[in-house]
Amino acid sequence: MKYKMSVMDVIKFEIRSFLFRFVGLDRPKLFPEPNFLNLGCGPNYINGMVNADFFGAFRFWRKQRKLEWHLDLRYPLNCDDSIFDGVFTEHTLEHLYIDEAEELLKELYRIMKVGAVIRLTVPDLKKYVAYYTENVCDEEMDTFKEKFHTGASAFRNLTQNYFHRSVWDFDELRHYLDGVGFREITQKQYRECSNPRLCLDLDHRAWETLYVEARKVSD
Ligand SMILES: C[S@@+](CC[C@H](N)C(=O)[O-])C[C@H]1O[C@@H](n2cnc3c(N)ncnc32)[C@H](O)[C@@H]1O
Repeated sequence: MKYKMSVMDVIKFEIRSFLFRFVGLDRPKLFPEPNFLNLGCGPNYINGMVNADFFGAFRFWRKQRKLEWHLDLRYPLNCDDSIFDGVFTEHTLEHLYIDEAEELLKELYRIMKVGAVIRLTVPDLKKYVAYYTENVCDEEMDTFKEKFHTGASAFRNLTQNYFHRSVWDFDELRHYLDGVGFREITQKQYRECSNPRLCLDLDHRAWETLYVEARKVSD
């Protein structure tokens, strides 16, 4: 697991972000309608979706597939209003500081159509607390024991692993979703989805994951 970013890593990341945004290579390539967004797709490329991730990330698989959208989630999205019929974003929001995450949620609201649903998944603070306090009853919690030798190491994963910048539970996510205007904010189970096009949860993430859906009900 990687917990530390070198100065060179930071510089390369920032230069790439600046140059690509400066020359305007941060606009999505859209399909004929409908358009569904897979935000922070990483290696989980989904055919038929607008797969979006950082500029030039994951070069090893970009050789086969070119993403539909290269972007930096810390900045306003270079996309028109009311474009997307649904958004799926798995284990990505926690990579942003809380103010960046709030701005991103506002931007997602803007680029979604009225009636569209967003499905967000993040590491669930509640599950980590359950492990830390030895309040482990669910089967999925066994995975915690396999992965983390102590409660503290689990928390290190939650707060620092792969540059995690924010921590979420349902109340916190509902607070920010509600604040930017989303309604019908509901906690879901793994693969319990209101729209089959957004039912993309990765099996190997279920043990630690919070699933939430919300709807844009007005402009
Ligand atoms: C843990 S990965 C999740 C990938 C995939 N959704 C999954 O669940 O396996 C987080 C993703 O967020 C992307 N990401 C993090 N910060 C970003 C930023 N500022 N702009 C764009 N993408 C970012 C990373 O490149 C990475 O692909």
